[in-house]
Amino acid sequence: MELTEIDHVAIAVRDLDEAVRWYAEVLGAPTVHREVVASDGVEEALVRVADSYVQLLTPTREDSPVGRFLAARGEGLHHVAYRVEDCAAALEHVKAAGQRVIDEHPRPGSRGTTVAFIHPKATFSTLIELVQEGPTSAVTE
Ligand code: CO
Repeated sequence: MELTEIDHVAIAVRDLDEAVRWYAEVLGAPTVHREVVASDGVEEALVRVADSYVQLLTPTREDSPVGRFLAARGEGLHHVAYRVEDCAAALEHVKAAGQRVIDEHPRPGSRGTTVAFIHPKATFSTLIELVQEGPTSAVTE
């Protein structure tokens, strides 16, 4: 298993347009992608930073995971995503190390990626996402 890049750092925000504007105007970092992920109850904006992204997240409904996060903890760091060549293999590596995971199997993420989350109880209280560019034949339910 090898982490090839920090794919993105995700930040929960209440006003996505305002956050997008702030990154563009104050840090000169452009938003290159926006997407509503209905299954996760979030809208995301990807702000490009070299070969990585800042992923600004806002809930589309209050009872979504990010909605509950904002209600409980307010705005701020939500998760760190590491890029891997093979999400399924990386997830199996983590599970074989006896670690608790949120996703037992990789699932589709935004931008056509394949993702899996490791439980924050196992990761020093920082939610970790493994991201593979593109879909995988190993995606199962
Ligand atoms: Co993410």
